[in-house]
Amino acid sequence: MKYSIAVLASGSGSNFQKIAESCKSGYLESDIKLLIHNNEKAKAKDRAIALDIDTYHISAKTEGSVEEETSKILEVLEKNSIDLVVLAGYMKKLDSKFIQKYKDRIINIHPALLPKFGGQNYYGMKVHRAVFECLEDVSGATIHLVDEVYDNGKILEQGIVDVSEAKSAEEVAALVLEVEHKLYSDVLKKIEEEKIEL
Ligand code: GRF
Repeated sequence: MKYSIAVLASGSGSNFQKIAESCKSGYLESDIKLLIHNNEKAKAKDRAIALDIDTYHISAKTEGSVEEETSKILEVLEKNSIDLVVLAGYMKKLDSKFIQKYKDRIINIHPALLPKFGGQNYYGMKVHRAVFECLEDVSGATIHLVDEVYDNGKILEQGIVDVSEAKSAEEVAALVLEVEHKLYSDVLKKIEEEKIEL
């Protein structure tokens, strides 16, 4: 099945770029219709412009409140007939109205092997620092459905990487990011082929 995808990102957007390249090369049948970012400085926005993908800057600040932010996001998604929402470094908890509306149609990538190193306090480098400090031999990435609880939704797939030789949290982060870049497109392909059920 072919999906009309919206990506939500707040930062660098390297995962967004990899997925967009998979769509453009034909590896994925689906299309990324648009990028929503909540941070004017997000590099993801520049990547989208370079890829000729529409961007929308929507945040509680631009819209005036969290409620308005959610309404605006839902309006954009509906107007563009989006049927799959892909979070890629989106640093904001989604409103439950949004989650209910797109139930089992929102996926996220977390840079660790959930349920380990997950939850509200584990994001960005904090995850990799914790993995490094705990002397873990392996880390990786988890793609999961999004529900109302942080990093709690059904796990769709995980990619594992040996980090036993990593000399710093930054090295762990780099190894995990490499896994993420392949994993996201591979999982989307399996979703398209119904090998992974949402
Ligand atoms: C990734 O590590 C992802 O797991 C996490 O945020 C990071 C985003 O990286 N949720 P990028 O913006 O795609 O480069």
